[in-house]
Amino acid sequence: MKEESDAYRWIAPFYSRLSRFVFDDRLRESKTIFLKDLPSKKILILGGGDGSDYEEIQKEIQGEFWELSVSMLDKAKKNLENSELIFHLGNFKSNQKFDLICLPFVLDTLPDEELERFLFSFKKNLNPDAKVFMSDFFEPVNFRQKALHQLMISFFRFATGHRRKDIPDYELAFGKAGFKLSQEKKLLKGWVRAQLWELA
Ligand SMILES: C[S@@+](CC[C@H](N)C(=O)[O-])C[C@H]1O[C@@H](n2cnc3c(N)ncnc32)[C@H](O)[C@@H]1O
Repeated sequence: MKEESDAYRWIAPFYSRLSRFVFDDRLRESKTIFLKDLPSKKILILGGGDGSDYEEIQKEIQGEFWELSVSMLDKAKKNLENSELIFHLGNFKSNQKFDLICLPFVLDTLPDEELERFLFSFKKNLNPDAKVFMSDFFEPVNFRQKALHQLMISFFRFATGHRRKDIPDYELAFGKAGFKLSQEKKLLKGWVRAQLWELA
């Protein structure tokens, strides 16, 4: 998790358009599906990209937004200028407590040992009854998905220096960090999932 890196510099200008071209609105749906009944809660978004997924609900969200990529962060500040979010560049560090921590398609970018450290890094920032809301890719289930998934991994390894060739064992990592699954919604036949985790 190198603080100075801006790995998404080249693709930040068209990242969201590309995502919507390939997946229509399904990825955005997976990233907001548990946010609908959340007005006035304090949330923490880690790896929120250009923030465009939260544009429509920005007046209802407050808390913190952290990004490693300054190009993505600059776009997020503009896209979410009407929110009460406070924007930060770098690895998360804060003494604030949150009701919900959002991890939108960030866990599958982290190597295993980093993923575990990452999940531990915000445990002290959870309010009682807080949840962790992750959305991400899981195992593709048919030929088309498998082909597209491989293509995406190759593209992101080339364009952003993406460090994985596979999908993490999320359940193992959350389990080691002391979380248990409390709710799950599957999209695209389970290739994409939105999950809520809570402290075990
Ligand atoms: C695959 S992109 C997803 C972007 C956005 N959440 C979306 O779904 O469109 C992963 C994002 O996570 C960010 N990221 C990776 N590791 C991070 C970390 N430790 N803290 C904050 N952001 C991180 C990257 O800079 C990148 O913008």
